[in-house]
Amino acid sequence: MLGSLVLLVQAETYDMVKEYAGTTFFNEWTFYDHFDNLTNGDVQFLGATEAASAKLAFVDPATNHAIIKVDNTSTVPDQQKRNSVRIQTNVMFAIGSLWTVDMLHVPYGCSVWPAFWSHSPNWPTGGEIDTFEAVNLQTRNQMSLHTLPGCKQVSPNQSANTTFIPNADCSFQTNMNEGCNVLDPNTASYGAAFSQAGGGVWITEFAETGISIWFMPRANVPSAVSSNSSTIDTSTLGTPVANWPTGGCDMDTFFGPQNIIFDITLCGDLADAPGLFAQTCPGMCYESWVVGNGSNYATAYFEIASMRVFSKTGTNTIIDPSKSGAASALTASSSGLLVYVTGLFSVGIASWLFGW
Ligand SMILES: *[C@@H]1O[C@H](CO)[C@@H](O)[C@H](O)[C@H]1NC(C)=O
Ligand SMILES: *[C@@H]1O[C@H](CO)[C@@H](O)[C@H](O)[C@H]1NC(C)=O
Ligand SMILES: *[C@@H]1O[C@H](CO)[C@@H](O)[C@H](O)[C@H]1NC(C)=O
Ligand SMILES: *[C@@H]1O[C@H](CO)[C@@H](O)[C@H](O)[C@H]1NC(C)=O
Ligand SMILES: *[C@@H]1O[C@H](CO)[C@@H](O)[C@H](O)[C@H]1NC(C)=O
Repeated sequence: MLGSLVLLVQAETYDMVKEYAGTTFFNEWTFYDHFDNLTNGDVQFLGATEAASAKLAFVDPATNHAIIKVDNTSTVPDQQKRNSVRIQTNVMFAIGSLWTVDMLHVPYGCSVWPAFWSHSPNWPTGGEIDTFEAVNLQTRNQMSLHTLPGCKQVSPNQSANTTFIPNADCSFQTNMNEGCNVLDPNTASYGAAFSQAGGGVWITEFAETGISIWFMPRANVPSAVSSNSSTIDTSTLGTPVANWPTGGCDMDTFFGPQNIIFDITLCGDLADAPGLFAQTCPGMCYESWVVGNGSNYATAYFEIASMRVFSKTGTNTIIDPSKSGAASALTASSSGLLVYVTGLFSVGIASWLFGW
């Protein structure tokens, strides 16, 4: 009886409420139009117009896929930054949401630090969910939560075994904000191996029962996802690779509405963390790679077939700060930049230093 109750609670159906794909992919994002003062990377994030004309954020007419990339055609002199892109959804998604991202290629290479993640505007209040993040020539994706103190990963039901769980405490104050992270055992979850396998899909469930992430390389993408079904039933997805049940981390306490973000920075607090860069790359992060003609960055791009957001069946979890009544959320969003700067930069430093 109890067992079936638990299963009932865990299986959930979601209906699509928003799609970012094809020619309109870039329509509803805010471009972070400033140098990287968030994670100290050696990049200038371009505004929407500049990013489009420099072809760093565009929809490839041949494939209808969105491309987000680092400038690989300019010669960058010493002391200068290289152009890149960081975009964040205009709207937020509340608890009871699920998002899928279907990608053909993820950015990699020495000095490259990409992420596909989300955070609440008043971070660390409201939390952060990192679905995809890695640096340099690492071979595994790292998934992570970052929160106020008191949230832990307890009794996860996930396919990654304890070998792949460096830290279970999600508090931003623990281990230099390492986050409660889970490494994907699958080495097709990052780098050249990801695109060689035809890319894949990440599904992030942000539910009252907890947060779960599934990763499916192309060959394993279920038809409910590959067929662009408007409904996803999580009971058909199997065991997630990473799971943080609400038992160890009360979702309503630690998590609020999330903006979803794609960004690529170079070096900075994580890719160039002491000892970490040298684990997979030669030379000096900035001097040997960022400076110069950019030929290193031909692989530093996201190729995205779609990003879709779903709400628990019968609900709509979209929160639009531009609509009246949500003005305070918008204010919080701009001031939040100051605090969430720490949200991403030290993700996993400790674990990666220890050679995961
Ligand atoms: C996916 O399905 C939705 C309706 O459920 C539709 O609006 C959208 O255009 C479809 N996308 C693609 C890429 O076929
Ligand atoms: C773990 O998740 C799987 C897939 O959702 C489910 O079949 C299984 O019953 C769960 N196990 C536990 C202990 O909850
Ligand atoms: C770009 O710089 C690299 C490293 O300095 C060099 O090997 C390569 O030949 C250069 N490419 C071009 C097209 O100048
Ligand atoms: C720049 O990167 C693209 C892939 O994004 C690649 O097709 C192109 O050849 C690269 N250009 C140079 C000059 O390396
Ligand atoms: C980054 O720069 C912007 C624009 O000057 C500023 O509003 C923001 O507060 C800065 N953020 C940090 C963390 O310094």
